[in-house]
Amino acid sequence: MIQSWRLDDSRQTLVLASQNGHLAEVVYWGPRLPDDEGLETLTMAHTLDVTGGMLDANPELSICPEATRTFSGQPGLVIRDALGRPYLPKFCFAHEEVSENGIVLTFADQAGTLTYRASFSIDQETHVIEASAEIESTRPMHLHWLAAPVFPAPQLSDAMIDFAGRWCGEFQMNRTPWSAGIRYRENRTGRTGHEHFPGLIVPCRGATNAIGHAYGFHYGWSGGHRMVAEELPDGRRQVQFGHATRIENEPATRFATATLYAVFSDDGLNGCAVAFQRHLRDRIVQFPDRARLRPVHYNCWEAVYFDHNLPELKEIASRAADLGAERFVLDDGWFGERDDDTRALSDWEVDPRKYPDGLTPLIDHVHDLGMTFGIWFEPEMINADSNVFRAHPDWALGGEDQILGRQQMALNMALPEVREFLFERIGQTLTDNDIDYIKWDHNRVLPMPDAAQTRGSYALLDRLRETFPEVEIESCASGGGRIDFGILRRTHRVWLSDSNDALERLKMQHNAALFLPMVVIGSHVGPRTCHTSGRMIDIRFRAWVAAQRHMGFEMDPRELTNEETGVLREVTNWWKANRKWLADADILRLDSSDPAVIAEQHLEQAGGQFVVFAGKAETSAQIAPRPLRLTRLSPDRHYRIELLNRADAPGLSRGDQAIKSSPLKLSGAYLMSHGLTLPWSFPETMWVVKGTLL
Ligand code: DGJ
Repeated sequence: MIQSWRLDDSRQTLVLASQNGHLAEVVYWGPRLPDDEGLETLTMAHTLDVTGGMLDANPELSICPEATRTFSGQPGLVIRDALGRPYLPKFCFAHEEVSENGIVLTFADQAGTLTYRASFSIDQETHVIEASAEIESTRPMHLHWLAAPVFPAPQLSDAMIDFAGRWCGEFQMNRTPWSAGIRYRENRTGRTGHEHFPGLIVPCRGATNAIGHAYGFHYGWSGGHRMVAEELPDGRRQVQFGHATRIENEPATRFATATLYAVFSDDGLNGCAVAFQRHLRDRIVQFPDRARLRPVHYNCWEAVYFDHNLPELKEIASRAADLGAERFVLDDGWFGERDDDTRALSDWEVDPRKYPDGLTPLIDHVHDLGMTFGIWFEPEMINADSNVFRAHPDWALGGEDQILGRQQMALNMALPEVREFLFERIGQTLTDNDIDYIKWDHNRVLPMPDAAQTRGSYALLDRLRETFPEVEIESCASGGGRIDFGILRRTHRVWLSDSNDALERLKMQHNAALFLPMVVIGSHVGPRTCHTSGRMIDIRFRAWVAAQRHMGFEMDPRELTNEETGVLREVTNWWKANRKWLADADILRLDSSDPAVIAEQHLEQAGGQFVVFAGKAETSAQIAPRPLRLTRLSPDRHYRIELLNRADAPGLSRGDQAIKSSPLKLSGAYLMSHGLTLPWSFPETMWVVKGTLL
């Protein structure tokens, strides 16, 4: 007997089928099928042959592959009873709930102990499929591993792309060829981590940024994930995502995965990127006011570090406002006796030595300049040298002899009294002061992973969001250590990296665009000499790289020369004049014919205008710039193409190129098939091109 279900949008179809009451299996996921496709026939057609030296049938690669059905690959569930004995369920179909865009399938364990439920929904506009799984038990069980519903990976794919990184080097793309066996990523740090962004892109053969078939996955959870991409001996491939293993430390009668976001694209990696960008921005992030324009930030961290001095901060604020900043964020150092990073975390009271009259004089000054005020917290952390630790040493997570991280420990967020304390202190700061923004940091990994910790952090964030709905929150963890759709359901911006080096940022934000839209990625103009790389970078490049995302400044504005001030004002004004449409634009990674050029096209959703940022990351191998192919334009329409910063052409760009002197009128067909030929340029520079549909 075959039961089947399908979810469709305009680009893709997902077909699930259950045979003989067994757990369902994804029997098709790819381009949209005809409405009248016979799903029973399709399921039968999906069956693999058998040959010598193997079982007499191929065990299903189900949404939760079961060891009890002779499946010899990685199972979707590993669970033990209260005595620690492995429990091996065999699930049978129980019931279905089918709605226009959703399917919920429930399966019961033959022995009557467990119930497995998988939910799928498809978003008609963003094209993202959301999938999650849960287990209920009649008695407490220990969970080792539960996968979100398992998807097959395409056969016509040679390699997969997942993500690695480090402090100041987030979102590095790893390409791993498919081969027999498993590619296993497990993040046991207890936070999303620089090293382990929970995403996977599986391009089919020949796919590039702009063309071909590709599949994308993201697991929306901040406590550390596990990914298994497995090729079975018979050639089939499965993708599993879930919380890291053994992260549930208590027996329970219910366990649930986070949401797995999955998408099929028929127009390259950009199809995945645009789906995730739109889904995150339009469905996940809860902006207090969606229509409010993203304000230009000023963050004082790299200007003063812990050395807070009111007159100096006021002067910095005045200069930042003069440059065009609209929100001033007071970073670490304002509370307790926080003179360096060895002490005072958890003492969330204004330091009277630095602010004898509280924060009000600074906040009033900032408001008088027309800026709003934001403030830094690192709520989940505690220093041994703090009043709170002296009073509550039992609030710290992990043993006394644990290795510290940045001289600090994590608080045990599973304890209600810890959450209550933090809610009260943060709430008091927000009530006593006119603050509309929190930069929420998390500067160390956990002593051991624990899902209860992440749930505790989420609960605190949810309560604060409910009580202070106007306050926006930025997720920071030594830069990009906590970036995922789970945290972004509760926050509004991410600090992509502690590197304000424009060259590093150019690469990182380009890769992060596979998942994240412009509005959530903070990008700041850093000091002339970068504090984390030592590189000296021209203000033009620093400014344009920041203008690719949610723009801000982080240098000491007193270091700026008049020329630098002028450039920064000009680029900031450009950003402000364009931010409304850029906020909703799709970031399209361009297939650059020159590997030295990292280029992206921000295309207005209606297609009427776009901007191309072509960043020169290094010196090209060849002499002259290669044409840069644009994407997603109307081939038979014409565009006005203007090189916005043509005045930046260096003296060594000596040719008489038309684009250097005036806008050009070119067709979409030409721009997409031949490409745009830009002037010669130095490394660490950016060409910015505006396109307008005529
Ligand atoms: C790490 C963050 O990433 C920085 O931007 C800054 O906020 C420091 N922490 C403050 O301690």
